[in-house]
Amino acid sequence: MKNTLIAPSVLAADFANLQRDIEMINTSEADWFHIDIMDGVFVPNISFGMPVLQAITKHAKKTIDVHLMIVDPDRYIKTFAALGANILTVHYEACTHLHRTLQAIKAEGMKAGVALNPHTNVSLLEDVIKDIDLVCVMSVNPGFGGQSYIENTYSKVEKLKELIIRKGASTLIEIDGGVTDKNAKQLVQAGADVLVAGSYVFGAQNPTQTIADLKKTTAL
Ligand code: DX5
Ligand code: ZN
Repeated sequence: MKNTLIAPSVLAADFANLQRDIEMINTSEADWFHIDIMDGVFVPNISFGMPVLQAITKHAKKTIDVHLMIVDPDRYIKTFAALGANILTVHYEACTHLHRTLQAIKAEGMKAGVALNPHTNVSLLEDVIKDIDLVCVMSVNPGFGGQSYIENTYSKVEKLKELIIRKGASTLIEIDGGVTDKNAKQLVQAGADVLVAGSYVFGAQNPTQTIADLKKTTAL
């Protein structure tokens, strides 16, 4: 049976009750913490930075999956490693020398991820896929939680899965944006390994149960 990983996005948590929401993830069936860092330049929004991440990693007991939506991410690779990131994902569109950036992330002992905006074709990863631990397929335009899922993502995931198999890579496919019970199963059938869910989890009456339900519907 496929064990789909669920990564709640802390962006949708209640920041006035952050420790409570971190403990909820700790004790739930969630697999990872998804942490969105936005700089107001690469995306039209600013989320939070190092002090908040430090507070999160102090209490979090699961894998820390950091999604950098910032320009020139090379400047902060060592900082995020020191703060406890286990996976560091940079945007394809923000890296001039992507191959070098991936090596720099791995040299700090982290897994290296690459995120693709909705308009970015998966074929652009052809020559670097074996160096990538995780591809984060954006199913919304990055910058905000609570947006609607873009339907074209299914076929994009299928193409990426085909590329990974053809190249003999072991890259994980993560989906980020607008994930709900309506699209989760089909995304996993298309090839997704990790589902990020922000507003769907934290906006639910019972976030713990919502995570458990997502886990169950995606165990194909
Ligand atoms: C969007 C972020 C996402 C976001 C997902 O730029 O990268 O991780 O928090 O939130 P939902 O699940 O509400 O779309
Ligand atoms: Zn994200």
